[in-house]
Amino acid sequence: MSQQFLKSQIAESFSRAAVSYDSVAQLQRDIGHELLSQLTQTSADVVLDLGCGTGYFAPLLTEQLKPRQLICLDMAQGMLQYARQHRSIANTLWLCGDAEKLPLADNSVNLIFSSLAIQWCEDLAALFSEVARVLKPGGRFIFSTLGPQTLYELRESWSVVDSFQHVNRFIDLDCLQASAERQLQPVSLRQANKVLLYDQLRELTAELKGIGAHNISAGRHSGLTGKARVIAFKQAYEQFRRPDGQLPASYQVFYGEYIHG
Ligand SMILES: C[S@@+](CC[C@H](N)C(=O)[O-])C[C@H]1O[C@@H](n2cnc3c(N)ncnc32)[C@H](O)[C@@H]1O
Repeated sequence: MSQQFLKSQIAESFSRAAVSYDSVAQLQRDIGHELLSQLTQTSADVVLDLGCGTGYFAPLLTEQLKPRQLICLDMAQGMLQYARQHRSIANTLWLCGDAEKLPLADNSVNLIFSSLAIQWCEDLAALFSEVARVLKPGGRFIFSTLGPQTLYELRESWSVVDSFQHVNRFIDLDCLQASAERQLQPVSLRQANKVLLYDQLRELTAELKGIGAHNISAGRHSGLTGKARVIAFKQAYEQFRRPDGQLPASYQVFYGEYIHG
């Protein structure tokens, strides 16, 4: 699958999910709030929300940083359309673009906030180089992203059924750190694990579909999933059922803060 085709698939999937996203994105909300709480600054002139999705964090960034301009950028037109309709905030520019090729001038942004978006980037070197290019000297990049332990139960359960990639591959902490530090000065990079619990597996799969984060990666299974394979997958996931009767879904979350030296 070509890079461009993969990107358009990701954008289409998130666009389709724009209407359902806010109602199922509790985890994304919690992680974004945690990231925001890391922000000690109380003002910034130009702020970029990179991979803004439905724009949920736009009013919160405005309230905390009182920017002259807030740029909310996303690759999915559907997300931006929803965001424009539901978050009307003064001084906000809603921009369609790719984090790996930012449509922004050099040295033009004071702070970049990005919650749970950069795990969709294929080329981390391009991402960090673009971040460094658009940040002003002394500008900050704060982000949350997902690590390879994320949804391991789902990945392992599918692996007993077929060899297709059903769950996205996420970058490990060392690679993330090395990529970031080639362009930026570290302030902090930490990890937190979260486990969501479900009574039924279909609640988890419906949630992933609702946020647009299901089966997008290259090499994913492209045909119909046969009934027998779904049954085998569900049976495999049962090995993770806890003594309290609930099914876990694990998330490995990385929180980073970097400065453009
Ligand atoms: C899980 S959502 C997170 C949205 C929002 N930040 C939040 O926390 O609710 C990921 C978003 O990143 C966007 N995205 C993925 N890859 C991107 C890229 N290369 N450039 C810009 N946006 C991207 C998707 O379209 C989607 O809206």
